[in-house]
Amino acid sequence: MKALVYKGPRDVVINTVPDAKIEKPTDVLVKITTTNICGSDLHMFEGRTSVEKGKILGHENLGIVVEAGKAVERVKVGDRVCLPFNISCGYCENCERGLTGFCLTANPGSAGAAYGYAEMGPYHGGQAELLRVPYADFNCLVLPPGAEAKENDYVMLSDIFPTGYHATELAGVRPGDSVVVFGSGPVGLMAAYSSMIKGAGKVMVVDAHKDRLALAEKIGAIPIDNMDASCVDQILSLTGGQGADCGCECVGYQCHDHPGHEVPNLTLNNLVKSVKPTGGIGVVGVFMPQDPGGADEMAKHGQIAFDFGEFFTKGQRMGTGQCNVKAYNRKLCNLIAEGKASPSFIVSHELPLDKAPEGYANFDARKDGWTKVVLKTGV
Ligand SMILES: NC(=O)c1ccc[n+]([C@@H]2O[C@H](COP(=O)([O-])OP(=O)(O)OC[C@H]3O[C@@H](n4cnc5c(N)ncnc54)[C@H](O)[C@@H]3O)[C@@H](O)[C@H]2O)c1
Ligand SMILES: [Zn+2]
Ligand SMILES: [Zn+2]
Repeated sequence: MKALVYKGPRDVVINTVPDAKIEKPTDVLVKITTTNICGSDLHMFEGRTSVEKGKILGHENLGIVVEAGKAVERVKVGDRVCLPFNISCGYCENCERGLTGFCLTANPGSAGAAYGYAEMGPYHGGQAELLRVPYADFNCLVLPPGAEAKENDYVMLSDIFPTGYHATELAGVRPGDSVVVFGSGPVGLMAAYSSMIKGAGKVMVVDAHKDRLALAEKIGAIPIDNMDASCVDQILSLTGGQGADCGCECVGYQCHDHPGHEVPNLTLNNLVKSVKPTGGIGVVGVFMPQDPGGADEMAKHGQIAFDFGEFFTKGQRMGTGQCNVKAYNRKLCNLIAEGKASPSFIVSHELPLDKAPEGYANFDARKDGWTKVVLKTGV
C-alpha cells in the first residue's frame, strides 16, 4: 500500500510499504478515504519529537471497514467509520472512567496510545491506503447513512473538533461566558467554534495569521491580531478590565513571539494575565516532558517559568492533556448529522495522498491560506 513515511526532520515521503493487516481478532482493517494533517504532526515533522524513522504518520482518520477480526461483533464490513486519534481498550481503569486518552492497556508502561505518533505506542498511522484499528468495537464511531456527503465534517471528529470542545470543557465554558482562545490554528478555531456552540457571550481569538483570524471572525469571534504583551491589554479592555471568564491554550510548547522566536511560557502566562480571578484555563496545546530542541535550558527539560504566584492569587483553575475523543465524538457527530455544526469550514486544501509531502511543507510554513489539509486516498 502507499503511505506517508517519516524519514527525518522536514523529510516525509510517499512509499510503498507492506499492507496493514489484522493482527488480533479484535481488530478491523479500514480502507482510508480521508485523513488529515494535524498541527501535532508538525511537531514530528520539525524533528521536535522522538518519533522513529519509518513510522507511518496520520491520526485523523476516516474510512470504510474492509475486514473484521473474528471477535468483532458490532462493527461490520462496509461501515463508514471515523476513528478517534486515541487508541483505547475500553476496559482499563481509565477507559472505564471515560478517560480514553490515557488508556493503560494500549501502550503498556505509559498512559495513552495513538496512531502514527511519537511515544504513543507501536501503531502506524492512517496517512495510508489501509489502517489497522485495534479494539475495533470500542474505537470505531460508525457514521450515519449518507455520511459520505459530509466527509470533511465527519473526519474532524477524529481529533480537532472534540479537542477544541475538550479545551472548553477543561476551561469550564458555560452559556454567556467570555472566552479567550490562544491560537487560531485548526484546534483554536474548533475551541472558538465549540464555545459558540455552548452559547458563549463573547469569544476572542489571538494569533498573528490574518487568514486564520479571518476564519475566527467568520464564525463570530473577535480576532486579536497580536501575540505579544498588548494582546493582554486588548482582552482586558474587551472584558471590562476583569479578564475573560475562561481561556483556552491551543498552541503548545512551540508558541512564539511575533518575530517568531520560541518563548515556551508565553501563552500560559498570557492566559494567567488575561483570564479573570477564579476563571478556568484549558490547555490542549501539546507540551512535552523533554524537548532537546527547546529554546532554553528549562525548555529542553520540559519546564517553563510559569507565573504560579499570579495564578494562585487569582484563584484560577487549569485542566490539561490529550483529548478523550470518545467522551464527545458521538454527540458532536449528531450536531453534524442534524446540520447544526459544520467544522469543515476550516478546510483550505484537499489533496491526493500522493501530494501529502507538499501539504506538510506548506502547512508547516503556515503559508497564507493553508489552514487545514485533508488528504484523499483512491483519487
Ligand atoms: N490535546 C490534544 O488532544 C491535541 C489534539 C490535537 C492537537 N493538539 C495540539 O494543539 C496545538 C495546535 O494545533 P493546530 O493543529 O491548531 O496547530 P497549528 O500549529 O496549525 O496552530 C497553532 C497556531 O498558534 C499560533 N501561535 C503561535 N504562537 C502563538 C502565541 N504566542 N499566541 C497566540 N497564537 C500563537 C500559530 O500562529 C498558529 O496559527 C498543537 O500543539 C497540537 O499538537 C492537541
Ligand atoms: Zn490531530
Ligand atoms: Zn484502556
